[in-house]
Amino acid sequence: MSWIREGELTIIERFCANIIKAGPMPKHVAFIMDGNRRYARKCHVERQQGHSQGFDKLAQTLRWCLNLGIREVTVYAFSIENFKRSKEEVDGLMDLARQKFSRLLEEQCFLNVCFAYTSRHEISNAVREMAWGVEQGLLEPSDVSESLLDKCLYTSNSPDPDLLIRTSGEVRLSDFLLWQTSHSCLVFQSVLWPEYSFWNLCEAILRFQMNYSALQKARDSYMEERRRQQMERDQAYVAKKLQQEGVVSHGDSRRRWTLLQKCTAMREERIQSFLQALEHKRADFFERLCSVSA
Ligand code: FPP
Ligand code: MG
Repeated sequence: MSWIREGELTIIERFCANIIKAGPMPKHVAFIMDGNRRYARKCHVERQQGHSQGFDKLAQTLRWCLNLGIREVTVYAFSIENFKRSKEEVDGLMDLARQKFSRLLEEQCFLNVCFAYTSRHEISNAVREMAWGVEQGLLEPSDVSESLLDKCLYTSNSPDPDLLIRTSGEVRLSDFLLWQTSHSCLVFQSVLWPEYSFWNLCEAILRFQMNYSALQKARDSYMEERRRQQMERDQAYVAKKLQQEGVVSHGDSRRRWTLLQKCTAMREERIQSFLQALEHKRADFFERLCSVSA
């Protein structure tokens, strides 16, 4: 039996789901599942029990997401900071993850699990990868851009989350998807994660829908600005090339245009080969890591 798929929505839940689905829906939702230990304290149960119920709540939430047509979910399962917790708690969380991960992998939905993750580490790693590309001669310094950084992040295969939800009343991102959520709707809810309900999820989606046009507008104008900046960088690159060739006249606009087209195509080619080299470098790293831990 499937862990996520078992159980359907009640009639009233289905009815409300259909109403919500008539509006714009988030395609990708990220969760900071917070409040497991407070829940355990509140219910006078062991801390591990709180985490275990948190794991089960994730399965239930994924089912609601599937029912609502949300095909991609990203969760903050364990931050690098969490390693500072007691050994007993970290070992308990690792055990739970080992048990549940294998079940999650059997499922067909798109779940990204951020484990031993922090966003600043991810961003600085992406910057290091680009510096490596320049050092290796795979990239020109002018190829370094926000859009290339996007492609160097661990999340490069996913669209940015439309909606980020944090439970337990904490109103901070705790170093989670800082780059990817600049145009996401952020919803902070006071409910503790193991008590999260279908209605809490609906409320978060309604808040996304209320802010939808402002979010879209901000995202569109950012993309437009990004295209403009890229064009400026390409023009500066061409001007530098022409200067190096000794062409100083601004009159030959046709030549300038042809060169601009050529430079853009060459940049795309450089970026593709850099990304391929990066993929090999990462695959090598993981192979070495697995052979060390085997
Ligand atoms: C935050 O509550 C929760 C965690 C540190 C662990 C979160 C992970 C899960 C619920 C399951 C994810 C599992 C997989 C396999 C994807 P807290 O411990 O910070 O509680 P508190 O805020 O009340 O102290
Ligand atoms: Mg917490």
